[in-house]
Amino acid sequence: MAKQPVRVLVTGAAGQIGYALVPMIARGVMLGADQPVILHMLDIPPAAEALNGVKMELVDAAFPLLKGVVATTDAVEACTGVNVAVMVGGFPRKEGMERKDVMSKNVSIYKSQASALELHAAPNCKVLVVANPANTNALILKEFAPSIPAKNITCLTRLDHNRALGQISEKLNVQVSDVKNVIIWGNHSSTQYPDVNHATVMTPSGEKPVRELVKDDAWLNGEFITTVQQRGAAIIKARKLSSALSAASAACDHIRDWVLGTPEGTWVSMGVYSDGSYNAPAGVIYSFPVTCKNGEWTIVQGLAIDEFSRKKLDLTGVELTEEKELAYSCLS
Ligand code: NAD
Ligand code: LMR
Repeated sequence: MAKQPVRVLVTGAAGQIGYALVPMIARGVMLGADQPVILHMLDIPPAAEALNGVKMELVDAAFPLLKGVVATTDAVEACTGVNVAVMVGGFPRKEGMERKDVMSKNVSIYKSQASALELHAAPNCKVLVVANPANTNALILKEFAPSIPAKNITCLTRLDHNRALGQISEKLNVQVSDVKNVIIWGNHSSTQYPDVNHATVMTPSGEKPVRELVKDDAWLNGEFITTVQQRGAAIIKARKLSSALSAASAACDHIRDWVLGTPEGTWVSMGVYSDGSYNAPAGVIYSFPVTCKNGEWTIVQGLAIDEFSRKKLDLTGVELTEEKELAYSCLS
């Protein structure tokens, strides 16, 4: 029997991530090749004409899985009945700006959209916040939508996770699909900690630790980390626009693994509401290694954290606590 369509909201759908993301969703990249979808696209009135253009292109692409398109500037209409909400709408960082600079513009958007989702989304709607500062926007959304379970509100650090996989694959000249179990800890910002201490590569003679294969701790503890931390800024410098196709692809990876599950023996990185695991600050959205099953994520427990890593986990945690305070001061 054919599956019922899943309603997927994309906010900021007329923007550049939106333009890359909606065709991926309509092709089944996010929810599977047999899962029909209805796209709900929200943007603001100045972008209404462009949004309508995106809708026209979706019709013209004749995607077999796409069972309907709602394109609107009304948050209530956009949020009504959605099962998955990908929150991309907001102001992107421009060259020379830190994420904190975009904070005041974006947190107030997330406060108001929290209410629209809380009142109108389908029960158990899964929320992924992409717009920066992603962790803190997600936290604000959670705080102002108290009836949505905290476990349903997440932010995107999968792009950073994928960037780390990409760097290791390039360094070792191996297939990216053979590298797994890197971890992004903390904030989607330049304080994030890309950790390879538990990462492995599948080789013809079995699974090997990344550290054993790279044999260059100076690179792993130095340039590798800064490259991943600074990749967003490097893309902005090169494109004069922030990353879009890789962000859209990572958003699909995040939701797909959350809904359909992570492969056995593999974890991914997700920004989730912290319970204080690994002595990360509780009550912020912090990126952890997680596995997913039956539509639920679980933080991977028991990984050894060495002294070098401990400092980095703490540093990014402090930044998130500060961002939380700053966000509240922007809202008051
Ligand atoms: P963009 O400016 O091209 O698009 C943003 C869209 O959001 C625009 O169409 C704008 O009109 C719309 N918008 C603004 N306010 C809105 C509101 N209140 N409701 C609905 N829509 C609204 O930006 P982009 O390049 O698509 O990036 C979007 C966001 O994603 C930025 O905040 C960017 O920094 C962030 N980002 C995050 C990651 C990540 O890994 N977490 C990666 C890349 C970009
Ligand atoms: C990215 O990581 O590419 C985005 O978050 C853009 C940015 O501001 O760094």
